[in-house]
Amino acid sequence: MPRHLVTGGAGFIGSCYVLQARHKNVSIVNLDKLTYAGNLENLSSLADDPEHIFVRGSIGNAELVMYLLETYQPDAVVNFAAESHVDRSIKDPNEFVTTNVLGTCTLLNAVKDWWLKRPAAQKVAFRFLHVSTDEVFGALKPDDPPFSETTPYSPNSPYSASKAGSDHLVRSFSETYGLPVLISNCSNNYGPRQFPEKLIPLTILNALERKLLPIYGKGDNIRDWLHVEDHCSALDCILESGNVGESYCVGGRSERTNLEVVQVICGILDEVAPSAAGPYSDLIRYVADRPGHDFRYAIDCSKIESKTFWKPEHSFESGLRETISWYLCNQSWVQHVRSGEYHTWITTNYAQRNKEDHA
Ligand code: NAD
Ligand code: TYD
Repeated sequence: MPRHLVTGGAGFIGSCYVLQARHKNVSIVNLDKLTYAGNLENLSSLADDPEHIFVRGSIGNAELVMYLLETYQPDAVVNFAAESHVDRSIKDPNEFVTTNVLGTCTLLNAVKDWWLKRPAAQKVAFRFLHVSTDEVFGALKPDDPPFSETTPYSPNSPYSASKAGSDHLVRSFSETYGLPVLISNCSNNYGPRQFPEKLIPLTILNALERKLLPIYGKGDNIRDWLHVEDHCSALDCILESGNVGESYCVGGRSERTNLEVVQVICGILDEVAPSAAGPYSDLIRYVADRPGHDFRYAIDCSKIESKTFWKPEHSFESGLRETISWYLCNQSWVQHVRSGEYHTWITTNYAQRNKEDHA
């Protein structure tokens, strides 16, 4: 049975990857620090699964990483562990450098030291897959061609700069030590179990509680949305057939303005959870913009499509419906993640913005 060491596997995308991997009978060692974004409830269906070994700890702990590598001898390391929210990176960039840059470097170094001592055949077969973002490429104008693997890096937020730093380190470990690395640069994900600080779950949950729906700036910024399950199937394809040392852009060809996304969510909620208080779109409010707000992201994913035959299975409309239904059906998950630290973040991020309300 193949075995993967997954980092950050209790987060939104990592947990989806772990669940899909177990479905395909891949054994998983899951190293996660359980920050505010890590949630073992995401993996509750694996509670009695002996082939999912969960270890609470940091990618920045070299001894722990080395212990896990030596004990479990994985065929691949898949690195999801990161601080992932742009707004938090604007408030506190240091944590992003600590985890995304220094943490990734420590992880890479431990993997490299372990990998160098592996027998030749296992060295050749091993893969280090680094899960990155399209945000490293910066911002597009309305008529620019989409990002591709040859687009120069031009990150604009502390989050994207820290992810760019980690991508460069990963690449350098391939060039310098020959470590068999792969990098994915994916567009915005949505789907079940996303922490409700991000646009789509925040909008769904605020709407259901008849709270205001904050839109930064004019709502005309554009993101390319991909269902999390399609991202994880792309990662499998890259692991299986990607060329060592190369990067792969992954996207949904589903560009939408933020206002469109919020309006579609409101429309679906009007159908499936109508409110006597009126249409959900009445709750939309324009608030102060994000500093350095990237205008548009879009992905040309022809490389992964032609090299690996990957295709997304969810359309944005149907995926969004399923996602809304998941949040409606999983109220206990919602209540747990919205307690404690969540309240502090929401107050910090939106108090000032609301004072500068643009409505
Ligand atoms: P997330 O914030 O939901 O989860 C991150 C996970 O990493 C959490 O479980 C957290 O506990 C864990 N973690 C944080 N620091 C750690 C450390 N030092 N050691 C071990 N674990 C640690 O993030 P996500 O949305 O699931 O994103 C996962 C990865 O995918 C990130 O690297 C992100 O940059 C990348 N990505 C995300 C998106 C998106 O739209 N969410 C798109 C493209 C790429
Ligand atoms: P987000 O989900 O934070 O992802 P990212 O910043 O990685 O793209 O934000 C998606 C878009 O939605 C982004 O353009 C910022 C915008 N946004 C809002 O308009 N209001 C909000 O409350 C949030 C969280 C995001």
